[in-house]
Amino acid sequence: MTADELRNKYIEFFVSKGHAQIQGKSLLPDNDPTVLFTTAGMHPLVPYLLGEEHPAGKRLVDYQKCIRTGDIDSVGDASHLTFFEMLGNWSLGDYFKEGAIEMSFEFLTSPQWLGIPVEKLGVTVFKGEGAVPRDDESAAVWKRLGIPENRIAYLPREDNWWGPAGSTGPCGPDSEMFYYVGDAPCGPDCKPGCSCGKWLEIWNDVFMQYNKNAEGAYEPLARKCVDTGMGIERTVTILNGKKSVYDTDIFASIINAIGEAAGGYRYGDDAEKDKSVRIIADHVRSATFILGDPKAVSPSNVGAGYVLRRLIRRAVRHGRKLSRDVQHHADVQQHTDTQQHESSSGAYSEGSRFLSPIAVVIVDQLKGPYPELQENRTFIMTELDREEEKFMETLQKGEHEFEKLLPNLLKDPRKIMSGRLAFKLYDTYGFPIELTEELAAEQGMKVNREEFDDAFKKHQELSRSQSSQTFKGGLGDQGEMAVKYHTATHLLHKALRMILGDHVAQKGSNITAERMRFDFSHGAPMTQEEVQKAEAIVNEQIQKDLPVSMEVMDLDTAKASGAIALFGEKYESQVRVYTIGNSPADFFSKEVCGGPHVERTGTMGKFTIQKEQSSSAGVRRIRAVLE
Ligand code: ALA
Repeated sequence: MTADELRNKYIEFFVSKGHAQIQGKSLLPDNDPTVLFTTAGMHPLVPYLLGEEHPAGKRLVDYQKCIRTGDIDSVGDASHLTFFEMLGNWSLGDYFKEGAIEMSFEFLTSPQWLGIPVEKLGVTVFKGEGAVPRDDESAAVWKRLGIPENRIAYLPREDNWWGPAGSTGPCGPDSEMFYYVGDAPCGPDCKPGCSCGKWLEIWNDVFMQYNKNAEGAYEPLARKCVDTGMGIERTVTILNGKKSVYDTDIFASIINAIGEAAGGYRYGDDAEKDKSVRIIADHVRSATFILGDPKAVSPSNVGAGYVLRRLIRRAVRHGRKLSRDVQHHADVQQHTDTQQHESSSGAYSEGSRFLSPIAVVIVDQLKGPYPELQENRTFIMTELDREEEKFMETLQKGEHEFEKLLPNLLKDPRKIMSGRLAFKLYDTYGFPIELTEELAAEQGMKVNREEFDDAFKKHQELSRSQSSQTFKGGLGDQGEMAVKYHTATHLLHKALRMILGDHVAQKGSNITAERMRFDFSHGAPMTQEEVQKAEAIVNEQIQKDLPVSMEVMDLDTAKASGAIALFGEKYESQVRVYTIGNSPADFFSKEVCGGPHVERTGTMGKFTIQKEQSSSAGVRRIRAVLE
């Protein structure tokens, strides 16, 4: 069973059961500041699961591109992926547990569809907890269909509850389907969760019954829904009896392309090199899909762009390592000791085009189900090449800096390089620690990793606080216009406080490339005059072409210096403070914020308030544009 066959069969099956096939959506979610990427098929359907009518009806089916970065550091092993495709079917207030389970069972076991023998299937259902009882209803349906009691595991919330996808949204108990990958279950009570480890999950039926709200409470949904998810890569692996997703048709030509790009490596020859191949394969797939998305971001230092940058750079680093090792191996074999490489940059330091030939294979393989990859082919390749080149320069600069440090380093009789110094290379030049360690090792030295990790952790805490603040503003999209609107938000916030009073506090903000929305606390509609005044004040600050500057400080110092911090927001101890104005003493606005912002207000354009209306009790909403 290939990935294409599975995708097609799934859609065909659910269409035959009265489901409308809908288009999967962007990898970069709309209007959801709580996540960077679409992480599941249900993600774009959240409003419908919460009660809105879907134009295509109550039964839906699709395939959805997803990215999950939670386990990014595990990528390289046999199973973890950042990018994957999810098959899903939904009932929006139509069938519930019985209907969902019956259809799942038929698709899995009917010879017309997947034809899995019932003896190879096991399931889990929710064990019950608090006000939500044990899911005997689902268990009864499974039993009626032929799954014996000894293959049904009742598991707690941590296993059998799904959602919400972000911090709020629809969720509920689920029932998961498992496939036994050995010959036969290891004993009479061998069921999912058994210590033999041979039950692998292939599908999840979620019974959406609750909405987790911003206060963390579970409100019952007015309309019960079903959300299911089957990961294509994982299921193809299991159905084909493969040990690893990288051994399937999904990765075969990608892995070939990587071997070629590295100068002729055959996957399977060496464990360490294989791991690099897997990391490259996964990361280039993710990067290709992010860049091929209609809402693509470019590599950057914030949000989704930052994840993209990390994926590309890690792939480059492994590509470089792999190429160098392969080249080295060839050199040794040929006894060509006259042709050794000049530096550790290896064979592929000059014409740096490692990733795009791999991306070409990915686009060609998946442009059928995802035509956007073909439409954005040039953009994908250009951006990959550009980022790769940039990173190669970084690496070369880092190597150069390292060489400059070397005479001093060699004086240390213990042959230990300080972690602080290694961190400086990382922080100033973006030079990865693994490379510093590699270079050090070539000189018979070790890096004080503990010291590095310490410095790194402090740095991470800071960037985490920054990014959580970034998401607060809903700035998923870091385009140029979004940045301008973000600065306009600060100007408007301050202008409103000047006109209406200090009770005005930001309650929410939502920015797209076309407009901004700003919610703030105020008990009455603004008068026409107040609206005009706010507009005029903002435009005045724009015309003054004020510089915008950023400083990192601790939260108390920030507040003492007059910076506005959002009430009720959790900040880390170190925060970024953005000041719009000519000097620390003479400024218009100062706010604790993750950024980013324009460098000078003069670039923002003309600010116009289009609407001022009620948002909720005591909260007003302004919609404004920059032109
Ligand atoms: N949304 C569910 C999942 O991702 C189906 O497993």
